[in-house]
Amino acid sequence: MKFNANPSLSPLTKGGIKGGKDHFLWGVATSAFQLEGSPYADWASWDSILNINPDVTNHYHLYKKDLLLLKELGVNAYRFSIEWSRIQPKENLWDAEAIAHYQEIVDILIENNIEPMITLHHFTHPLWFIKRYPWHKDGSIGKFLEYAEKILAAIRGVRYWITFNEPYVLLLGGYLEGCMPPGVSDASLALKALENILICHGKTFDMIHAKVPGAMVSVAHNMAALAPWKGWNPLDRLIANIAKYFYNRSLLDAFLTGRLYVKFPFRKPIELNVPIKDKLDFFGVNYYTRVHMRFNPFRKMGVELRHRDIDGYGLTDMGWEIHPRGLEKVLRYASKLNTPLIITENGIATRNDRKKIKFMKGHVDVIEKCIKKGLDVRGYFYWSLIDNYEWLQGLDARFGLYKVDFDTLERTPTQAATYYSYLIKSRTF
Ligand code: FCB
Repeated sequence: MKFNANPSLSPLTKGGIKGGKDHFLWGVATSAFQLEGSPYADWASWDSILNINPDVTNHYHLYKKDLLLLKELGVNAYRFSIEWSRIQPKENLWDAEAIAHYQEIVDILIENNIEPMITLHHFTHPLWFIKRYPWHKDGSIGKFLEYAEKILAAIRGVRYWITFNEPYVLLLGGYLEGCMPPGVSDASLALKALENILICHGKTFDMIHAKVPGAMVSVAHNMAALAPWKGWNPLDRLIANIAKYFYNRSLLDAFLTGRLYVKFPFRKPIELNVPIKDKLDFFGVNYYTRVHMRFNPFRKMGVELRHRDIDGYGLTDMGWEIHPRGLEKVLRYASKLNTPLIITENGIATRNDRKKIKFMKGHVDVIEKCIKKGLDVRGYFYWSLIDNYEWLQGLDARFGLYKVDFDTLERTPTQAATYYSYLIKSRTF
């Protein structure tokens, strides 16, 4: 594979993201673990399906074929993650071949004029890390930074970086619900973990800027349209307002002020200093759905959630409401950061191609409207390129533009893949 002559800048990014037809990033997003598993990751032993078959699509070996699909789609950007546990399977063992593997992916992308966007942390950890240095322990910061430093010293040609994918989802899953590793259910440990993760973001932001001229760095923040279960019920409204602030907006404020204000229902508010003020070059928004919520004293944290098909778009196979208008809402919240916005994930789990197409069109129409109204949206990444392992749902949630037969590993384009190519060519922003 040819190596990019200018190691720090890829052809597409010289001069920065400018917006406009030729610069809008049309991409797809994936995460390493969901495609290729890893025997060394915390999730591999967390989930019984994966214990049997951690490498669900064999992407780690079929990556060249999969990267050709990007070409076929006509995307100009690809967001993917580096699997930390492959890079550092043991605390004192760095795998140079694994690093070279991810560099090769970058090289292939650049040769094909596809902008790479790397996620450093997408939910998974090396098993040793989560056992010895889970995020609520201070040792976690140093260990994550060693990993980030290793990657930054080695990987060339990447300008777009996501430090953490959905830190709040990691927190809710790993530290409040306990359904994701490390499987803790403790609000004060959750806050400590969040603080440490945000410290890592701040330090990694600086590290990337010290190595990569003109780097574009962000987190990918999961944002949802949140609404009261019953609009007339003041308790439901209160819960929805608290959730809107905590889930969608408190991180934005932390980027604006360096202070994180957290208020869980029926608890005293907490304020933390987090060194992330202005540590963003764009803001990554992952948007999927709307959630209705109500007070229920018998549920964890006193909140019950549900999805309702209100607009007639239907629910996805995950049971999530399809609600394109909510994307405008969350983009408006995010616009208060005064930084370019990129939709780093948006997608639907369904085996129904027409539904997938309608979902995609609905959301891209909203983006077009937002841009016309003056919001600075610079990119859209559909989740996902191929069907893959969905964290708590296993292999049934079919998000892919390409369908994967998990027995033969064959990839087949869905009609939504053809439609996405058409969308990319036909939209003028
Ligand atoms: C997001 C995750 C991504 C994928 C989609 C469906 O929250 O970032 O890994 O699982 O949901």
